[in-house]
Amino acid sequence: MSVEWAGVGPEVLLRLDRSASEPLRVQLERGLREAIRSGRLEAGERLPSSRAMAAELGISRGLVLECYSQLQAEGFLTSRSGSATRVAAGALAPAELPVQPPPLARPIVDFRPGVPDLTSFPRRDWVWALREGSRGATPLELGYGDPRGVQFLRVVLAGYLRRVRGAVADAERVVVCGGFAQGINLVLGALSRRGTGRVAIEDPGDVDYLAICERLGIRAVPVRIDKRGIDVEALAAAEVGAVILTPTHQFPTGTALASERRQALVAWAQACGAMIIEDDYDAEFRYDRDPVGALQGLAPDRVALIGTVSKSLAPGLRLGWVVCPPDILEPLIEEKRLSDRGSPALEQLALAILMESGRFDRQVRRMRQVYGSRRDTLVRALSTGAPAVVLHGLAAGFHAVADLAAEADEQAIVEQARERSVGLYGMSSFRPSGGGGAPQLVLGFGNLSQTAIERGIAAVADLL
Ligand SMILES: Cc1ncc(COP(=O)(O)O)c(C=O)c1O
Repeated sequence: MSVEWAGVGPEVLLRLDRSASEPLRVQLERGLREAIRSGRLEAGERLPSSRAMAAELGISRGLVLECYSQLQAEGFLTSRSGSATRVAAGALAPAELPVQPPPLARPIVDFRPGVPDLTSFPRRDWVWALREGSRGATPLELGYGDPRGVQFLRVVLAGYLRRVRGAVADAERVVVCGGFAQGINLVLGALSRRGTGRVAIEDPGDVDYLAICERLGIRAVPVRIDKRGIDVEALAAAEVGAVILTPTHQFPTGTALASERRQALVAWAQACGAMIIEDDYDAEFRYDRDPVGALQGLAPDRVALIGTVSKSLAPGLRLGWVVCPPDILEPLIEEKRLSDRGSPALEQLALAILMESGRFDRQVRRMRQVYGSRRDTLVRALSTGAPAVVLHGLAAGFHAVADLAAEADEQAIVEQARERSVGLYGMSSFRPSGGGGAPQLVLGFGNLSQTAIERGIAAVADLL
C-alpha cells in the first residue's frame, strides 16, 4: 500500500491511498471536505495552487482543478480569477451540538393507556382486503375524489354505525379522516369558522385539547367529571359553544355518562344551539351486558360523532370518521379538502371490504375476549399483590383506574416504578385544569400479555 501525505499550510492534511479502489479525485475531495468540516482548514485559509498541490501529491493538475471546482460548487471553497483558492466563509466547522441527556430506557412493562394489542393486528385479512381493494379500485376512486372519502366506505360505515352504535347516519354525512386526531381538528376548525370561541373539555380528560384548541384560536374550558360523567350544570355555566366528550367510556375515568345526564346534556345543547363532539374511541370493547349506544342517536343534529379504528385495528392505520350534523357539514368538508384533499383511497377501500366481509367484526369479537382475559388478570394480580388498591372503570375498553391510598404520593410512585422499568401513569397527567385530586393511576393493559401484567404488578405491588 502506498500512502502519501500532502502538507497544506502548516498542517499535514491529505492522505491518498493508491491501492484503494476509490478514485484519487474522490479521495482528494473527501479529504478536503473533512479537513474543512473538522476545522483543520479554517474559513478564509488559502489553499496551495493547483500546480503545487498536484506536484506535492504526484497527481495531475487537471485532477486537482476538477476537485477544486467541485468543492466550489458545493460551497466549501471560493476562488476569484487571478487570486488563490480559499476556504469559503460559510463552510465553517458545524457548531458543537449540545449534549443531550441519554433518553430514559423504555419501560419493560408499560401500563400506558390507550394502546391496543399491536401484535394482534389482522395482517393476513388486511393484506387480503388491500389487494381486493387495489384490484377493484375504479379510476374515479384513484383520482381526486370527494374530500369526504370513498363512497363505498362511507356507505359501509354508515350502516355499521347504525347497526352497532345506534347512530343516525347516512353516507352523505360521513367524512372519512385520519383518525380521531384529524376528526377533532376538522370539527373544531369548522366550529371556529362559525365563530365558536370557547369549547368545554372533560377534566380529567385528554390534555392535548388545550394545545389543539389554542392553535385554532379557541379557548378550552375544563369542566369536571364525577362518577356519573360530566357535570352538566357546570357545563351550562361555562358559556361554551361546544363540548368534547367521551360519553360511552369516559377517558380516563372509565365511567359511562348517566342516562339523566345524557338527557340534560342534549337539552342544554338544544336550548343554546351548542355542539356536542362525541369521541367514540373504544366503543367496540364493552364487557357488560348492556351496550351503551352513541349519544349521537339521541340528537343527530346537535352531535358530531367521531370514531376511529385506532383501538379496533391499529393506530398506525390513521383512519377514522366523523358523522357530521348538517349545520357544520359544508365547512367541515371544506376543512378536509384544504387539509389533505381526502384520505388515502386504497386504505379506505380495504377498510370497507374488511367490514363488509365480516372480518372486522370477527377481529373485534376476538379482541374483546383477549382484552377481557387481560382485564381479569389485572384484577387478580392487584387483588393478590396490592389488595388495598380499588379498581374501577372496567366495564369497557382496555384501561382501568386504580384508587391509591389517600396519603399516597402519585408522582413518587410513578417515578419509583420507572426505576424498576415499569411504566405507570398518574391521573394528574390527565387533568387539563392542572388541579389536584385523589391519588390514582390509569392502568392500560391493552398491549400487555397476561404474563407481562402479572410481572409488572408484582414488580410495583409494594409501592401501591
Ligand atoms: C380519548 C381518546 N380518543 C381518541 C383516541 C384515538 O385517537 P386516534 O384515532 O387519532 O388514534 C385516543 C387515543 O389514544 C384517545 O385516548
